[in-house]
Amino acid sequence: MNILITGGLGHIGSFVIKGLLKNKKIKKIFVIDNISNNRYDVLFSLNKKKVSFFLGDAVNKDIFSKVPKVKYVLHLASITNAEKSFEIKEKIKKNNLGCFKNVFNFCKNKKANLIHISSTSVYGPQTGEVNENSKKIFPQSPYAKIKLQEEKILQNQNKVKFISLRFGTISGFSKGMRFHTAVNKFCFNSVMNLNIPVWGKALHLYRPYLSLKDAFKTINFILIKNFFPCEVFNILSENKTVNDILKIIRKNNYKTKIKFTKSRILNQDSYKISKKKINSYGLNLNSKIEKDIKQTLKAISQNKIIF
Ligand SMILES: NC(=O)c1ccc[n+]([C@@H]2O[C@H](COP(=O)([O-])OP(=O)(O)OC[C@H]3O[C@@H](n4cnc5c(N)ncnc54)[C@H](O)[C@@H]3O)[C@@H](O)[C@H]2O)c1
Repeated sequence: MNILITGGLGHIGSFVIKGLLKNKKIKKIFVIDNISNNRYDVLFSLNKKKVSFFLGDAVNKDIFSKVPKVKYVLHLASITNAEKSFEIKEKIKKNNLGCFKNVFNFCKNKKANLIHISSTSVYGPQTGEVNENSKKIFPQSPYAKIKLQEEKILQNQNKVKFISLRFGTISGFSKGMRFHTAVNKFCFNSVMNLNIPVWGKALHLYRPYLSLKDAFKTINFILIKNFFPCEVFNILSENKTVNDILKIIRKNNYKTKIKFTKSRILNQDSYKISKKKINSYGLNLNSKIEKDIKQTLKAISQNKIIF
């Protein structure tokens, strides 16, 4: 069977494609990406036998007419910086919702099943342990509000079979890696001996993190089991505090120079995200963020720029 991956040259996509090359059930992988992240290195490293690349903007529906019939779509194409999304509200809405609507129509027309990637940032300020049944959710950033809007569009229709995955913040190394999210940025700044920006009281607040290994394990599980229950699932490896992450970095012999900053994301309560729902379907996500941090620090230090 064939799969279309939008945004396949990014942090998650580049890792997932590498893993899917080993999945014998997947015959062909089609990738759409507009290379807005400039990941030409990922593009040139793609396996040409199994992967076909379509350069283009997923906001433009014409690009989809070039893609042959597929059984699955993994939709990753998005502008993904939640903090920056306050400054580019209209741009992010046009891009992310525009891509989503074209992907949805493509799935409807081709009868393809959709893996939709949402984010645990849809929850907003919470306390205690939060699960998928929680009705009181308060997305803070324009990025998170759009994710919730996409989820609702999917829940209020019956034409496309889907699964919405609320991913925690990604940790781990990939070819298409980015450094604006917590773990990666902290690792990069520590190796480069730069300040580590920590928002407000965030040092001791729990947040959900997802190892790339578990992100791939989830997507592969869904494809192997053809698991499209038309529901939302939290997908995370571990809940950790920023302080936990900084401790791991120090354990690897790097200094952490913390600089407290202000954030427009007013998430100042501590909460944990539950992964019981996905576990109950037999998928255990237990990769260790500590291992990812070690690998990321090593990769950055080997390529360290000397000033
Ligand atoms: N990385 C995380 O921590 C994280 C956490 C939760 C959810 N997610 C979600 O997972 C998905 C993938 O995230 P990622 O970390 O791989 O992001 P990324 O920014 O590394 O990759 C996104 C890819 O999409 C492409 N793209 C963006 N707009 C496009 C468009 N209009 N047309 C075609 N291609 C376009 C970019 O060029 C890039 O290659 C996103 O939906 C993101 O919101 C990511």
